[in-house]
Amino acid sequence: MDGTDPLTPYGNKPMVTPIVSAVNYEYLSFEVLRKITDGEVDGYTYHRDDNPTVRAVEKQIAALEGAVDCVVGTSGMAAITMVLLTYLHRGDRLLTFHDVYGANYKVSLILERFGVTVDWLNAADHDQVPAHVTDSTRMIFCETPSNPLCKIVDIARLREQADRVGAMLVVDNTFATPYHQLPLSLGADLVVHSATKGLGGHNDLMAGAIACATKEYYNELWFTRQAIGTTLDPYSASRLERGLKTLDLRAAKMAENAQAVAEFLAAHPRVTRVCYPGLPSDPGHQIARRQMRNGFGGVLAFDVGQTQEEAKRFVEKLDLIYHAVSLGATETLVCLPVLTTMLYLPEQRRVSFGVRPNTVRLSAGIERADDLIEDLKQALD
Ligand SMILES: Cc1ncc(COP(=O)(O)O)c(C=O)c1O
Repeated sequence: MDGTDPLTPYGNKPMVTPIVSAVNYEYLSFEVLRKITDGEVDGYTYHRDDNPTVRAVEKQIAALEGAVDCVVGTSGMAAITMVLLTYLHRGDRLLTFHDVYGANYKVSLILERFGVTVDWLNAADHDQVPAHVTDSTRMIFCETPSNPLCKIVDIARLREQADRVGAMLVVDNTFATPYHQLPLSLGADLVVHSATKGLGGHNDLMAGAIACATKEYYNELWFTRQAIGTTLDPYSASRLERGLKTLDLRAAKMAENAQAVAEFLAAHPRVTRVCYPGLPSDPGHQIARRQMRNGFGGVLAFDVGQTQEEAKRFVEKLDLIYHAVSLGATETLVCLPVLTTMLYLPEQRRVSFGVRPNTVRLSAGIERADDLIEDLKQALD
């Protein structure tokens, strides 16, 4: 605080974490370098290892998830892949669910090349889980609510099953965000996010996050990231920090809109199915009431009529609502999962867990609910 630091000349800190775009840092001495690399003092050496802008947002996400620490990466899939690479070995089994984001299927094909076996179950079939948890099961990975049918997995029950064989439990919390659900408090070891979605919230950045229940997990995942180079860039980290500031406000409005839209759709004669855990008739409603809070999230899925042609006509008639992939941002978006996120999935797989050719996924934004319902109504009518 002697007036020589241009950023904080007299300790008056900037209100926003500065974007540090440096890739490398000057070492004051070999002794300082040793202290940094030994972890004795906080410090930075090279961007692939760590960056102050990224580190700031990691600490904020850790606080939101009730985690000890957090590792941020270049995308949601990068975060998930870091977890799988860090903890799975040849001969291990990964237990997961058909109802996870489509790209996980592609990653499973890569994992199998390295001698990992992936067991797939239907997320709604809690009773099937015990029979598939074996001594070789090293990890259970789930999404809840799931993409795109918003099925609810009972996290505490999975924890019990994981404990039987000493497996890890990893939960993708992208749909819920920490505003609605805290999987670590329900027994998860790691929580992963596509921070591209609700955490960022504005369709203007790509990032992923892994919130860790222990410092050991953080250290192990940090090692993987440092080795493979999936460190987030500081510009995206800065936008992510800005998104986090309004997370609660956005998530509350999105959940309110999603609930209103789900209730409207459930009563519409052209809509043949609505999947949203906020509807009392939804199979996941009771579990969701227990493990979620502040509502049920901003995403829902529904079937329009009987055929894909009907669903396509409906989507093309929408005016206010955008036809685009992704979710969790300020604008309301719809897409047909079979033509987008699930395009690469074998048809038999999609059908077996309930995604139909006429299923539409809707991610509510922060518009006025009346305007959204008006738009849906004119497109359905
Ligand atoms: C639930 C879920 N997890 C992970 C991902 C992957 O995230 P990203 O696109 O940031 O890699 C997505 C993307 O849609 C998702 O919906």
